Amino acid sequence: MPGKHAPPARRNAGDGREVDLLHYIFSRSDLEELRGQPKKVLAAIDDYVENHNRLMNVGPHKGAFISKLIAERKPSVMIELGGYVGYSAVLFGDAVRSNGGKQYLSLEINPENAAVANMIVELAGLRDFVRIIVGSSNESLIRLVKVEKYISQIELLFIDHWKDLYLPDLLLLEELNVLKPGVSVIAADNVIMPGAPEYLEYVRASPTQKREILGKRKLSQSDNRVDNGLTKESAIDPSRVVGNPNLVYESSIEMFEWDSGRRKDGVEVTRVIGEDAA
Ligand SMILES: C[S@@+](CC[C@H](N)C(=O)[O-])C[C@H]1O[C@@H](n2cnc3c(N)ncnc32)[C@H](O)[C@@H]1O
Repeated sequence: MPGKHAPPARRNAGDGREVDLLHYIFSRSDLEELRGQPKKVLAAIDDYVENHNRLMNVGPHKGAFISKLIAERKPSVMIELGGYVGYSAVLFGDAVRSNGGKQYLSLEINPENAAVANMIVELAGLRDFVRIIVGSSNESLIRLVKVEKYISQIELLFIDHWKDLYLPDLLLLEELNVLKPGVSVIAADNVIMPGAPEYLEYVRASPTQKREILGKRKLSQSDNRVDNGLTKESAIDPSRVVGNPNLVYESSIEMFEWDSGRRKDGVEVTRVIGEDAA
């Protein structure tokens, strides 16, 4: 294993392993060979995971599946919710760039993770392509759409933050009117493990069923996350988001197994295919 760094074994994400990853990467004897080489940077992160501490990165199989979606959809701008240490931003940012895209936006709430991701992205030579935006996903999405007016439609979205936020953030995007029939594709990770049942129920429902779901839905505390100048300025209060049940989705799951079938998970791919007049 290259380099002198000997990271201590740690227990959980957020216990310092993310900054430790930087020490590991930047003390490798082959550091110069990693510069500007996304695949080598990813391999170095894989080495860290294999030899030291687990990280919450998208795995190789799911990563290859999303990369295939990128090659099919060829988004100009791709957005991810939940950037962590930048693994998916490097993998998918590189794929979006090689498929002729313009930018990869990585939304991350934890400034320490975002700082680590920035260093990793810079090392991989993607600094001018990947923009890491620090803040809660709902605030950042509102800012991108309503304040900066940088996003008018979602082309390809990768959802990979906390599972109880999948549905609230989808409803916010519905309400922001950036989910467009024939244009928008959403890939949501970890929908089986740890699981996002409310999200799955919603994206698989017809507009009539979605209206019923939203009618019954009591907004939980976790939706009530923003009450600041940004919200007032942009005139959307995420605690009052009601979505747009008229959008018609076509949704299916791609299943993955590892550890000899002991662990299973799925990526739900949802395409916006129409809008019901209702
Ligand atoms: C599973 S990790 C993302 C892994 C990353 N996509 C990858 O594959 O390399 C989830 C990340 O979502 C972030 N997160 C949680 N809630 C968030 C929110 N409301 N807005 C933005 N990021 C959030 C966490 O801090 C964490 O870094």
